[in-house]
Amino acid sequence: MSDALAVGAEIEVRVEKLVAGGDGFGRHDGQPVFISRSAPGDLVRVRVSSAKRDYLRAEIVEILEPGAGRREPPCPHFALCGGCDLQHLEDDLQVELKVAALRETLERLGGVKLPANLEVHSGEPFGYRLRNRVRVEAREDGHAVGYRAAGSWTLVPITSCKVLVPELESFVLGLGPELPIGRAPERLDLAVGDDGAVTVSPVVEGLGQGEVSRRVGEFTYAFDARCFFQGHAGLLDELVEAVVGPESGEQAWDLYAGVGLFSLPLARRYAEVVAIEGDTVAARYARINARRNRVLNLEIGRGALDSRIGEMPSGVDRVVVDPPRSGLTPAVLGALLARKPTRLTYVSCHAAALARDLRRLQPTYRLINVGLFDLFPQTGHMEAVVQLEVDGDAS
Ligand SMILES: C[S@@+](CC[C@H](N)C(=O)[O-])C[C@H]1O[C@@H](n2cnc3c(N)ncnc32)[C@H](O)[C@@H]1O
Repeated sequence: MSDALAVGAEIEVRVEKLVAGGDGFGRHDGQPVFISRSAPGDLVRVRVSSAKRDYLRAEIVEILEPGAGRREPPCPHFALCGGCDLQHLEDDLQVELKVAALRETLERLGGVKLPANLEVHSGEPFGYRLRNRVRVEAREDGHAVGYRAAGSWTLVPITSCKVLVPELESFVLGLGPELPIGRAPERLDLAVGDDGAVTVSPVVEGLGQGEVSRRVGEFTYAFDARCFFQGHAGLLDELVEAVVGPESGEQAWDLYAGVGLFSLPLARRYAEVVAIEGDTVAARYARINARRNRVLNLEIGRGALDSRIGEMPSGVDRVVVDPPRSGLTPAVLGALLARKPTRLTYVSCHAAALARDLRRLQPTYRLINVGLFDLFPQTGHMEAVVQLEVDGDAS
């Protein structure tokens, strides 16, 4: 390996593949280089933006030879906006590369052996997104609304955002003039319901704050812009079906339950379901959703999971975990290893955290199935659903 390169140095790199998260990967004198917005096969001249001991990050200065599957980004803001990072790749190729990246991450970091074909679930590549976060800046001629620029705090005002469902896009584009001069928040979270109504957080006078709702399978879920809800309009039913599956039994636990997206259908298949959710607002909606959908065999516990996981008994039939990007905490992993639920479903939005946790879980659990859900087209994010069963020899 050559001497460490300084930030600002320019080098040529051939991009070998995409890694989980969406960056391209290549090597310079043996040293790994991660290059945003690149494509496998690209030969690029890049500028080093960050130099660590064992890898570099770099930005493209010039594409010397384009890789196959590049396209003109459909969004006019793509060059500056930090909202998406894969618009320069054909839609089908994005999915193919995410499957390869998930496989590599789980096999290399997780030490798992995956089946030859992963189950892949993809939907509309544009016009799918139900929730987003916009930035707001007061300017002389009114409010600019948009997203942060890639890798910086600078606001990129937008005139379109084609990943959003059309109702949410129209709302965002009309937002600037609706915001009160001098009192507009710098950041707004938004979510849209089945009827096109949009809810915002924090409170802004004159804009919708109430709940919205979405029908998924046989249930209607209420929520608002303060809480988590899955983001791809076209994949909600498939996701719930894949997570909940056909199994049934006596007792199931839904950990990191949100507003109850998986808890309610689990309660149709298990005699008793316990859901744990840390966020007060989401837990309140989970209770409302259970009541309005007449689900009576579901108990919702609010609190940080680390302090509540001790309540889970040994040998329950089913546990579903859907943690934030950081993955499972040692306390939750420890409980799953000690109490050995018969079947464990792990829903993950971060492949590396999933891989790390699977490495810990594997001696006790056997991998049954892995599915990739392309819930965030045009970005490097992906969702994985992993079904595990307690290994008979480990019990
Ligand atoms: C990825 S979301 C999943 C929600 C739900 N399963 C769904 O699909 O709609 C993760 C949820 O975990 C909750 N959460 C995060 N950290 C937590 C913790 N330490 N204890 C309990 N809940 C937590 C968040 O509030 C969020 O609702």
